[in-house]
Amino acid sequence: MILGGSFISTGDEATRWARFHFRPHFFQHAGFRLACSEEGDATCDAVLIRKSSGVEAYEGDKILGENLMLHYGSADEAMPYNFGPKDAVGFPQQIAALTLETCLSLGIEMGQALDVGCAVGGSTFALAREFQSVLGIDLSATFIEAAETLRREGQLTYRRREEGENTSVAEAQLPAGLDRGRVTFRRADACALPPELVGFDAVLAANLLCRLASPRAFLGRLCGVRGLVRSGGVLVLATPFTWDERFTPRDAWLGGRDGESSFAALQAELDGDFELLETRDMPFLIREHGRKFQYVVTLVSMWKRRGA
Ligand SMILES: C[S@@+](CC[C@H](N)C(=O)[O-])C[C@H]1O[C@@H](n2cnc3c(N)ncnc32)[C@H](O)[C@@H]1O
Repeated sequence: MILGGSFISTGDEATRWARFHFRPHFFQHAGFRLACSEEGDATCDAVLIRKSSGVEAYEGDKILGENLMLHYGSADEAMPYNFGPKDAVGFPQQIAALTLETCLSLGIEMGQALDVGCAVGGSTFALAREFQSVLGIDLSATFIEAAETLRREGQLTYRRREEGENTSVAEAQLPAGLDRGRVTFRRADACALPPELVGFDAVLAANLLCRLASPRAFLGRLCGVRGLVRSGGVLVLATPFTWDERFTPRDAWLGGRDGESSFAALQAELDGDFELLETRDMPFLIREHGRKFQYVVTLVSMWKRRGA
């Protein structure tokens, strides 16, 4: 039950006594504001939500430099050592290519695609090679601003870390011939996506799930009458299942505790609405500084929404 009118309600419904009995196919305006004092009690729900929402983790120059390198760095920049795993470079382009291949093999119309948790937009731009329009969504203001600059100007100068506080200048550049007009970026929370986002031909969410305060809130938004993926559309999820209470409260993890497999938990969430097409392991590399790299193997799963 929801009590109280929304800001957009009129008449009786605007009062705090307005009371509603929503039916699932009705589109309703409802908004919630959680507030607590700045120095408030650390156990206050609002503080806990803010702490586990990952908002601060993806802001600032350091994480921006790492992500621009991950999304736009050449093999020699992102992994300058010949003995290193160079095949882990270019992950955003590889996952976008896999999404395009999957759509092609299913004969999916390449109309609209959505890239949720797009960071600085490497996979978003790569999807626009085939899709007529691609929307990239991320919660980070730093990332969306950088992605927007790349969309406008085709390039962006940034600083990458070498050692300690020392940095050097690097350049992120979009490939020539890319139609940047097909791409839009928007800042939004994957756990509460704007209601007008519905019916995409393909949705990509790479390395996002285990960074969300509520992975189930995002998964639940994928299907249903106003689902993100249209019937017959494609969903590509990639996740290394790096559950971490700084981002996701333990109770909200999908598996990853008491011996439960995360992929089994994910499958249980999606099985009724999506058909699993394929899974595969894909590596990617985050260059922290000139001599430190994170090597991650993410589990990619490709799904087709049932019903078409
Ligand atoms: C590990 S990065 C993955 C980025 C990119 N997809 C990739 O694979 O390189 C996680 C991304 O999710 C974004 N993110 C975290 N929480 C989010 C939320 N609630 N809504 C939307 N994006 C979120 C972060 O800002 C970051 O860009």
